[in-house]
Amino acid sequence: MNEAKPYNYRYMAYVHGYHQREQARLQDQASTLVELLHADTVYPEGSRVLEAGCGVGAQTVTLAGRSPGATIISVDISERSIVEASEKIRKAGYSNVWFRQADIFQLPFDPESFDHIFVCFVLEHLASPVEALRSLGTFLKPGGTITVIEGDHGSACFYPESEAAQKVIHCQVELQKRAGGNANIGRELYPLLRASGFGHTKVTPRMVYVDAGIPELVEGFIKNTFTAMIEGVRQPALDAGLSDAVTFDEGVRALYRTMEKDGVFCYTFFKAVAVKG
Ligand SMILES: C[S@@+](CC[C@H](N)C(=O)[O-])C[C@H]1O[C@@H](n2cnc3c(N)ncnc32)[C@H](O)[C@@H]1O
Repeated sequence: MNEAKPYNYRYMAYVHGYHQREQARLQDQASTLVELLHADTVYPEGSRVLEAGCGVGAQTVTLAGRSPGATIISVDISERSIVEASEKIRKAGYSNVWFRQADIFQLPFDPESFDHIFVCFVLEHLASPVEALRSLGTFLKPGGTITVIEGDHGSACFYPESEAAQKVIHCQVELQKRAGGNANIGRELYPLLRASGFGHTKVTPRMVYVDAGIPELVEGFIKNTFTAMIEGVRQPALDAGLSDAVTFDEGVRALYRTMEKDGVFCYTFFKAVAVKG
């Protein structure tokens, strides 16, 4: 299978790619955000949890560690990611996770065979998120829950303000849109889940706020998570004619500028938990 172009037509090109640098970024993102996103992610003893789109296992480690009595079945369309994720879980010493290469739209499981489903940073890359959620819903037992976490690049705000920085962020949003995804999907979780047939749905915004007083977030979030992601689309943005090199680099410098001692950076993730009606 060509890792850069998964076969599923509903999943266009994965805009961030599968390179080592992107895998490291996903890991940094997960480690930095673990308390903010997962303080309330706990599954009961004996429950079966499906993690859809596990990637290299950046969230899987947290799921396994926080819910040692649950069995977690993690799937991803990328075989290479599944291999890396399995290795990560093995090294971490967890034995409650099973991996399988599978497509969210053609899952090899019995209907209503999971108590909970967990999806993180996946819908933003899908051309048909409602179809994906509907499909996932068929694998949930009645009364089971689905947890969805997504970012929203439109929520990024920072000091010093910079038009150049907003322009490079827009390059990423536009590339993801052209690839069939939606980098601003976080704000849509409630309507998407309701349109997919889920019942009670609670969405909570999770804002990352960073200033120089929180140096671990300056490094972990502004540099290694957000700016690394934007820098990662430099060449595709230039190739697509969305920016020239000088303007792009100016925007990236403006993002780095927010890491200085008077800088501030805010970004909001959205976490939804919905019940199968
Ligand atoms: C941004 S990564 C997120 C990985 C992980 N959830 C995390 O938070 O680190 C998105 C993942 O979704 C996977 N993916 C995309 N479309 C998929 C599909 N149709 N079925 C299964 N996995 C898919 C990609 O291969 C990729 O690993």
